[in-house]
Amino acid sequence: MPNPRLVSLCIIFILIFLFPDPTPTPLGSFQRLNNTITREKTALGLLNRTSYGDFDPAGDRWLDIPGLREQDGFAWHALKLVKERVKEQVAHILGTESQDLLEGKGRELTIYHNVTGRVRGRWVRSKLDESVGRPHLNMTAILPSDARFEHSFLRNITGNGGQMQFDFKSENQIQGLEGPGTVQNVRADAVFADETSTGDGWTTVLYGVQFVHTGHILLTTSSEKFAGIFALPHFALSENLFSGSKRRLVETLKTILREQKAQQNMHPWSSTIDGAADNAYTPHCNMIVYLQQHRLPIAPASPQLIQVLEHELRFPNGHRSMVPPRITMSALVFSPDCGFLLESQGPPDYTRVEGNHLQGERWEIRSRTSVHHALLFAAALGAQVLLTMTQMRHSSTPSTRSRISVYTIGIISLGDGFISMVFFSLGMLSDTESIALFATAFFAVLAILIFDTRFLIEIWSVQAQEELDQARRRATRASVSTAAQEASLAVPIITAAGADSLPLPVNSREVLNSGAIPIILPPDQDEPANEMPPTATTAAEDARRELGTLYGKMYLLLLAITFLSLHATSWHPSLRSLYTNVLSFAYLSLWVPQIYRNTMRNCRKALLWKFVIGQSALRLEPVAYFYTKPDNVLWVQNDTRTFLAIAAWLWIQILLLAAQEFFGPRLFIPASWVPPAYDYHPLLREDEEESKMPIGFTHTSADDSPHTKDKGKRVFDCAICMLDIEVSVVPASGGGGGDVTLGSGFLGRRAYMVTPCRHIFHTECLEAAMRYRLQCPICRESLPPL
Ligand SMILES: *[C@@H]1O[C@H](CO)[C@@H](O)[C@H](O)[C@H]1NC(C)=O
Ligand SMILES: *[C@@H]1O[C@H](CO)[C@@H](O)[C@H](O)[C@H]1NC(C)=O
Ligand SMILES: *[C@@H]1O[C@H](CO)[C@@H](O)[C@H](O)[C@H]1NC(C)=O
Ligand SMILES: *[C@@H]1O[C@H](CO)[C@@H](O)[C@H](O)[C@H]1NC(C)=O
Ligand SMILES: *[C@@H]1O[C@H](CO)[C@@H](O)[C@H](O)[C@H]1NC(C)=O
Repeated sequence: MPNPRLVSLCIIFILIFLFPDPTPTPLGSFQRLNNTITREKTALGLLNRTSYGDFDPAGDRWLDIPGLREQDGFAWHALKLVKERVKEQVAHILGTESQDLLEGKGRELTIYHNVTGRVRGRWVRSKLDESVGRPHLNMTAILPSDARFEHSFLRNITGNGGQMQFDFKSENQIQGLEGPGTVQNVRADAVFADETSTGDGWTTVLYGVQFVHTGHILLTTSSEKFAGIFALPHFALSENLFSGSKRRLVETLKTILREQKAQQNMHPWSSTIDGAADNAYTPHCNMIVYLQQHRLPIAPASPQLIQVLEHELRFPNGHRSMVPPRITMSALVFSPDCGFLLESQGPPDYTRVEGNHLQGERWEIRSRTSVHHALLFAAALGAQVLLTMTQMRHSSTPSTRSRISVYTIGIISLGDGFISMVFFSLGMLSDTESIALFATAFFAVLAILIFDTRFLIEIWSVQAQEELDQARRRATRASVSTAAQEASLAVPIITAAGADSLPLPVNSREVLNSGAIPIILPPDQDEPANEMPPTATTAAEDARRELGTLYGKMYLLLLAITFLSLHATSWHPSLRSLYTNVLSFAYLSLWVPQIYRNTMRNCRKALLWKFVIGQSALRLEPVAYFYTKPDNVLWVQNDTRTFLAIAAWLWIQILLLAAQEFFGPRLFIPASWVPPAYDYHPLLREDEEESKMPIGFTHTSADDSPHTKDKGKRVFDCAICMLDIEVSVVPASGGGGGDVTLGSGFLGRRAYMVTPCRHIFHTECLEAAMRYRLQCPICRESLPPL
């Protein structure tokens, strides 16, 4: 048996090795930084000198910066086509005004001026994708001679469609450039997914400009082989946009270059999320992205109203006149070096049902929604804790605790532990919602530490003690059988454990046959007082050790699930959704161990119905949220069909629990599959031997007894409530034998209980008594658990 601690350490190390290494930050040698800055200064000077039309591949006019030279072999001949296509898109969105707007004239539009937020939608290959053609890259020109480059470019999107997402940040870096032609700097973290991509897809960081009053955004990647940001104005649609973006970029780039040396920043425009180099050794496909914001659908189409709304969003002071509308954007993505052309899917080429371009919300709304949802989740956690507390109070005696399955409570604890881990990670990733997320995580930790685990320990200690007793009893019996041969002398003692109402094992035949088990000690050990202390301490140690392993196992499992889930975020989407489905399915199978325990022990009433229904509903709710709500906070893809399957599975478990409660735990299960157990609700037959009938039932007095009401009915006294019990009895032979149908017989038998010592009680009375003591109230014989 390997040491569990060692195993856990090994697993952690294996998981760490499975994680991809973060790209080592290149040691920015001073020389390289100087070279980079010199190169950038040249490019900036070039940008400052050029004017609209200086880069015109169709007219054979090139610029002498990386990527824009003729010998590089980029697909620049398609640029004119791409611009035409974007103009078409803009014309469709803005109508007849579009030309005026691109020229910087036209009226103000009802659009957001601050696009900080996230939009998402489907992309498809443009119908012009074919006409772009394959670029014939001149590797000797674009890559340094020492680069030995074998594999194809990263981020080469080859699928036919998928999701794309843009996360915009527009920060007001330079004041004083407001006015009608305002141009704003924008950074966007874009994600492109297709059938071939792993994880969420290719993540790209793009930089560019937003033409605030036109709703037009122009973004690009930059790398050593493509000086995108220095050429960005040349990709603009009109001379007006060119000059606006040039003015803005020259200002911004000058500032960044000035700070670059001090910050030792080699790649201020890196296109990877970790800011690493995008160089000759890991070449990526470059992209130019054109986005156009649609008009906002608000009733009085007044731009002033939007300004008020935006101000209220940014600096809320309480008056919410209307719900801020969602952002819609059209996108076109052109890769000059890999030669692909993608578009957002939507009208006019596709119906609104197939896709409506990119949709999303302003950052403030999303942030507020996630805080609300996190707090709602915390409230659900609180309700779960309340339910657990109620159940704990109800299961306060050993006999009630021993009915509950440790695994059911274990799944609940694991679920809460996992939730706390998820919320802690989310809280660390987000900057503004982190307080709400950490609060929820903290609440989950409290729930698991204070309530779930305590309940688990209570149940575990009772059941461990029970198993221990069982084992000891078996051992004692074995030694007795040998000792009895020598000295056929045995001292039966009514078990001391019986007084403490410890439930009896059900899987030992002898126990069941006798109903009550005396502890039989060999003659030389007839002083239990001398024998008990050492056994008690070893038993306590055993229990403590067992508890330790239980803890260890649980936290190990939690750790393993957390690490696996973290790793799963980088898997292929279909594999990932399979993983999530399996995880959700396992999580919501929480009643299965309880059903199993009920069946094996032939007991019922382990958990309160309030607890079962409440926990099921509260635990299903977050699953429902992520499986069925479009644009949920984590942007998880919906899968309603799987959700319905999971919900149905949970429902089936509850139905099974209900069936066990009302019709007996072993309904539909062949008797040979399960260990025999005492049946508290026997069918009483007149022709049975007397030893199997309740005390007080005699053949002779049966017919003329005053207790006989009508044929086939007997009345007994319940010693607990002192009231009559009316019991139907199958007559001796023939006669009404067929009367006992399922209806009267089966449900009728649930009304009374017969103990192994042949005492009869009302079911409610004996069940209430057995919650405290597993003992017959009349003769104090031990009873098998219910
Ligand atoms: C950087 O390189 C240029 C030319 O290679 C040189 O003139 C300049 O002095 C260098 N700057 C520093 C700070 O070394
Ligand atoms: C850009 O050119 C103008 C003159 O055409 C000059 O005054 C300005 O300093 C230049 N800016 C940069 C950053 O080179
Ligand atoms: C590739 O680049 C090299 C060096 O820049 C140049 O000499 C050569 O003519 C280019 N080849 C083509 C096919 O453009
Ligand atoms: C991109 O993928 C296509 C299709 O697999 C391939 O033909 C092309 O060479 C790739 N481009 C680059 C630059 O690796
Ligand atoms: C846009 O809104 C965000 C979030 O409120 C803010 O951080 C950013 O500075 C705003 N940008 C501009 C240009 O006002």
